[in-house]
Amino acid sequence: MLRTHTCGELRLEHAGQSVTLCGWVQRTRDKGGILWIDLRDRYGLTQLALEEGVETAEVREQARQLGREFVLCVTGKVAERHSKNDKMPTGNIEIRVEKLDVLNPAKLPPFLIEDDTDGGDDLRMKYRYLDLRRSPVRRNLELRHRVAQATRRFLDGQEFIEVETPVLIKSTPEGARDFVVPSRMNPGEFYALPQSPQTFKQLLMVSGFDRYFQIVKCFRDEDLRADRQPEFTQIDCEMSFVEQEDILRTFEGLVQYLFKEVKGLEIGMLPRMTYADAMRFYGNDKPDTRFEMKFVELKNAEKTPPTADQTQDIVSGYSFPVFESAELVVGINAINSAVYTRKQLDELTEFVKRPQIGATGLIYARVEADGSVKSSVDKFYAQEVLQQWKAAFNAAPGDLLLILAGEANRTRKALSELRLEIGQRMGLRNKDTFSPLWVVDFPLLEFNEEENRYFAMHHPFTSPKPEDIALLDNPQTIGQVRANAYDMVINGVEVGGGSIRIHDRTVQARMFSLLGFSDEEAQAQFGFLLDAFEYGAPPHGGIAFGFDRLCSLFGGADSIRDFIAFPKNNSGRDVMIDSPSPISGGQLKELSIATAVVGK
Ligand code: AMO
Repeated sequence: MLRTHTCGELRLEHAGQSVTLCGWVQRTRDKGGILWIDLRDRYGLTQLALEEGVETAEVREQARQLGREFVLCVTGKVAERHSKNDKMPTGNIEIRVEKLDVLNPAKLPPFLIEDDTDGGDDLRMKYRYLDLRRSPVRRNLELRHRVAQATRRFLDGQEFIEVETPVLIKSTPEGARDFVVPSRMNPGEFYALPQSPQTFKQLLMVSGFDRYFQIVKCFRDEDLRADRQPEFTQIDCEMSFVEQEDILRTFEGLVQYLFKEVKGLEIGMLPRMTYADAMRFYGNDKPDTRFEMKFVELKNAEKTPPTADQTQDIVSGYSFPVFESAELVVGINAINSAVYTRKQLDELTEFVKRPQIGATGLIYARVEADGSVKSSVDKFYAQEVLQQWKAAFNAAPGDLLLILAGEANRTRKALSELRLEIGQRMGLRNKDTFSPLWVVDFPLLEFNEEENRYFAMHHPFTSPKPEDIALLDNPQTIGQVRANAYDMVINGVEVGGGSIRIHDRTVQARMFSLLGFSDEEAQAQFGFLLDAFEYGAPPHGGIAFGFDRLCSLFGGADSIRDFIAFPKNNSGRDVMIDSPSPISGGQLKELSIATAVVGK
């Protein structure tokens, strides 16, 4: 080892010892008579001191030539500092330098390597290896490491076996496009990169592995968002001889363990909410339950409402055209927000009218100090009707009711966004508060209007609830079939999802046919799985967690990018290595790709 200690470990008790440290120059301060250098490594910062008349002139001269980020090896004695810095763990000592070797000089970095840097996003992505020197970014990766290690400890303790599955495979349908890799040896043919190891983990169950896990890269060619990367990591798990309840309990255990180990928090048992309730009360299958503010329906004229009990209609019959024609009239109670000014309400109206949100307008009603209600639709609704609304919302003086109307799905979606916005404005979405839950009983299938056919809501290997299987026979009820599928949601983020699988060849073949696969197509794409089901497939099920998402939640960040060592930007590019990039004509030819744009 070149060094005896790290830059984070020396304390007063080391005073007098001769030590050697290695690291990068964080900054130098030259006060004439005395020159200080802050030396940094992964573990911290240590101050080096070179005083006139104490340290040799030669060493002092050498130190004067140093620039930021030079790599040094210094030997000297640990000494008590005159002016201590209680903000630094090493703030009581400094090193009186006797020998200084420059291991490597450095160009001036393009941005400050400090906690608060002057570098913009693009620049920091281009020089990601320098950005990773900054403590906040490094700490994120350290947290990621701890989450990974704790995950392995927990699952290993529960008899899960970590098995690696291949990366050059063929399409696994998880709802995104595949990334493909041409095969030189098989001209005109392509591998697909796994969107998940779904089929392989099921095959491992057929092989009898019983409990599998893998911390694994997955690849999905989809539009990027703050919580999506084209390559991301899952904690992927599968178990045999289980029912949904066993999976929920086991992985609730994992998440409880991670919270305890990583955050020191006891989260207790996770509440469960049906998909139908999540949609009805939060307009969202991943509700942020850090705050209540549940939806209240004033009219519901849906053919099949999410939950069986119909809402009493307390808005129709008063000639207000917006509500008369609406399929759904639904609102939230922003408690104590009656103080919102006209300007703030106009802002909220603009917010819901943005194309991404898509509402046509916002109706509001304030509960005044005397209990009376003043609304933006007073000319249609008399006080006694408004009082019925107030009762429906369980509203009190000072509260503000915000109501949207229109086509049911769209309106729920818009209100969900408004709810989150109000929650944000009211400071109810604190990053240090964690509200995990299971969302259960997802529909098996989802109708796609554009393609005029059903898609699997989770994936095609998900088993219908046995009690709903009969509904599959009738085109009218097929959409109501529920799946043994579940998501884990924390603070409005879907951190994991899974299901009990189909393990019977006939049921799986039927599922493929419902999804519009011909027998030949199903056999060509998934014949290996269908065949495997004929060789003694145990009942099985599993789950996969978005590992990057879990880490960013633990770290209190909005974007998963900060928790990935070398992430892609919003256009799916790695700007540091400049990828993707064209390939040579020769390479294309070798790969039998004739029509692609020929690169340099
Ligand atoms: P699913 O598609 O729900 O299920 O994925 C599981 C979890 O992976 C995370 N995730 C992502 N994270 C970052 N970037 C992405 N592009 C991205 N896409 C998904 C989410 C999600 O909950 N094979 C099934 C699991 C199973 O059934 O066992 C699957 O992949 O947190």
